[in-house]
Amino acid sequence: MQIEPQAFDRVLSSMCTEPHPVAREAAERFLATNPGDPGTYPSVTALEDEAVSMLGDIAGLEDPSGYIASGGTEANIQAVRIARNRAETRTPNVVMPESAHFSFQKAADVLGVDLRIVPTDDSFRADLEAVRSCVDEETAMVIGVAGTTEYGRVDPIPELGEIAEAVDAMLHVDAAWGGFVLPFTDFEWHFDHAPVDTMAIDPHKMGQAAVPAGGLLARSDDLFDELAVDTPYLESTSQATLTGTRSGAGVASAVAAMAELWPEGYERQYVRSRNNAEWLADALEKRGYEVVDPTLPLVAADVPKSTFDALRAEGWRISRTGTGELRIVCMPHVTREMLASFIGDLDRLEVRASVPVMSDD
Ligand SMILES: Cc1ncc(COP(=O)(O)O)c(C=O)c1O
Repeated sequence: MQIEPQAFDRVLSSMCTEPHPVAREAAERFLATNPGDPGTYPSVTALEDEAVSMLGDIAGLEDPSGYIASGGTEANIQAVRIARNRAETRTPNVVMPESAHFSFQKAADVLGVDLRIVPTDDSFRADLEAVRSCVDEETAMVIGVAGTTEYGRVDPIPELGEIAEAVDAMLHVDAAWGGFVLPFTDFEWHFDHAPVDTMAIDPHKMGQAAVPAGGLLARSDDLFDELAVDTPYLESTSQATLTGTRSGAGVASAVAAMAELWPEGYERQYVRSRNNAEWLADALEKRGYEVVDPTLPLVAADVPKSTFDALRAEGWRISRTGTGELRIVCMPHVTREMLASFIGDLDRLEVRASVPVMSDD
């Protein structure tokens, strides 16, 4: 029996989406290429340069350094690795808000850095006072998130940059999810707004590229020198990526999606996603649920566990935040019809839950 991939018609909590048709087509054409070996696969290497330059346009950085990684996890690990390698101390620490993605815990584990996790404020953004009192002369990196995984919040990046600068630490921005919607908002989040050193920005999330297409950008080439190792058996001489053989499909699909959609297509999608998030937040609020206001197209709401479980049993692919709220990510494949059908199921299940059980005696 042939197993088919899942359909997207009930997927409401993923940070990935259906690739744009041009991205799918490009991915297929470049399936058998490996940008990890640029001497042998020069055309995909040229495409990767294009991808990095386009990501720079989106992230406000002229002439960026970078590469297409396997995802945000690899980009975050590599950013921390740059900071660890540059640090003058043998016991470097990295400071991040509790809202940061769990990939940084992997980074800290693999790289042996001390991860200092500080609380967020009432609006789920990094608490600046907490960050300030946590950094010291051994801080190698301060991390800010531009589009948090659970609540879609954007940390105060310029202020985090000032704190990092004061202790001579690097500033990394994790815009893995938010990077392709933030250009259409008023948030200050990118290289042009603050002294950002490195950034994760993933085409395979809001960028509508095929998986795997993560993005790591750095303000300058010398930051990547920290990662370079010699590559004796390849035609090239050194490699700064974490993986060796990499997917040319991810690179090609990222370029195809960005060439097709940046900027107007992404802006149209952002407006659609934002309107959907606002509609959903309103629908949930009207039903008496406590909703975390969506600032980016992600809605979290305090839906009871029993209702959540019943919705999952109806086939909705949904997830919960660490503190138990339902979280819905309004990705490009999420339509108003899907959300209306979801709310219809929610109403039906809630009515059923509120009907008193009749006893037989
Ligand atoms: C903000 C953020 N950073 C990093 C990641 C990790 O990305 P990936 O799953 O592509 O490795 C995610 C995943 O959702 C994310 O939301």
